[in-house]
Amino acid sequence: MKYALIGCGMISAAHIKAALESGLEIAALCDLVEENREKALSLLPEEKRQGVKLFADYRAMLAEVRPELAAVALGSGVKRAIACDCMDAGANVIVEKPIALSLEDADAMIECAKRNGVKLCVNHQLRFVPSVRAVKAAADGGDFGKMFHAAAQVRRNRNKAYFDVGPWRGTWKNDGGTLMNQCIHYTDLLQWILGDAEEVFAYTDNLCHPYTEAEDMGLALVKFKSGAYALIEGTVNVYPNNLSDSMAFFGEKGTVSVSGKFLDQAERWQFAEGPASLPESLEKYAVVDLGAGHTPLYRDMIQAVEQGREPVCSGAEGRKALELVLGIYESAARGTPVRFPLERGSTMDYVGRFEK
Ligand SMILES: NC(=O)c1ccc[n+]([C@@H]2O[C@H](COP(=O)([O-])OP(=O)(O)OC[C@H]3O[C@@H](n4cnc5c(N)ncnc54)[C@H](O)[C@@H]3O)[C@@H](O)[C@H]2O)c1
Repeated sequence: MKYALIGCGMISAAHIKAALESGLEIAALCDLVEENREKALSLLPEEKRQGVKLFADYRAMLAEVRPELAAVALGSGVKRAIACDCMDAGANVIVEKPIALSLEDADAMIECAKRNGVKLCVNHQLRFVPSVRAVKAAADGGDFGKMFHAAAQVRRNRNKAYFDVGPWRGTWKNDGGTLMNQCIHYTDLLQWILGDAEEVFAYTDNLCHPYTEAEDMGLALVKFKSGAYALIEGTVNVYPNNLSDSMAFFGEKGTVSVSGKFLDQAERWQFAEGPASLPESLEKYAVVDLGAGHTPLYRDMIQAVEQGREPVCSGAEGRKALELVLGIYESAARGTPVRFPLERGSTMDYVGRFEK
């Protein structure tokens, strides 16, 4: 399958690795900055660099290369335009998370995929982590009994050097804050495992990043339609560096607590009638290791295209993760609980919110 990557910045190495590991034919790399295009090209084994074309203009790339699969990995405010141009040119698209920064843009992308008969996938790659798939299987298989509540903690540090790398970072127009950028993986996982959210109450603030527009901390309480609850804690203010990411699930007959960048360290994995450890759950639910990072998501997307089914991380799923973050933003700004579904929502509704 002929593949092109648009946006050769920080996350591009993960895309190139996944493209190579899933057997795609890397036909083009596109970035406005020549140095970034060259750096991305250098990540390919020498024998695979020959046929790869480099472009500054993605439209020229689409016209000349006609990729069957394009990955869009750049600031979130421009994803709609670029992803839709790709899909209008007949390409299936993997778009980095978040899918977009407004429900209107997400809906337009989902509709564009439908209209063109192509697949749209959002990069929520944590869904493919074995421990996360085992939690999902245990929840679906009834090992937890009634699910009471879950917690997601994203305790990181992002300093000025991080925001200086991309002028889009931390802006309402192109990124949002830590809930939208770092925590959206978790608003995705919570809804994947617990079902759709019903209501949220939240606080968000910008406590120590005067050079960014959006929040650097958010605390949210979510009630799900299933009757379960969740607590989301997201910060990029941890002194002096990243602490950990973690998730916990508390059910009537089971408790799971996992942490680490890939949620693969189990502090507690205990069920009254089910597996007594993560390895036992992996065996019970035949969860095989599909590879690290973006690779399993790429493989799933390729299969989805070939089999004419939706990818695990479809546009509609990416929209749900976005809607929960936008609900958090609305609740924090209004100081009241907010119910789902939202009628509308965009990061642009919050321009100036943290201006001192
Ligand atoms: N899935 C994950 O775990 C994960 C991790 C990090 C970043 N991301 C996401 O990936 C995306 C990119 O993040 P990043 O950290 O790589 O950003 P970055 O700023 O490092 O890179 C973005 C690149 O896009 C290029 N670019 C901008 N506009 C362009 C255009 N019109 N045409 C071609 N190239 C253009 C820039 O020159 C830059 O090289 C964001 O959406 C971010 O949220 C996802």
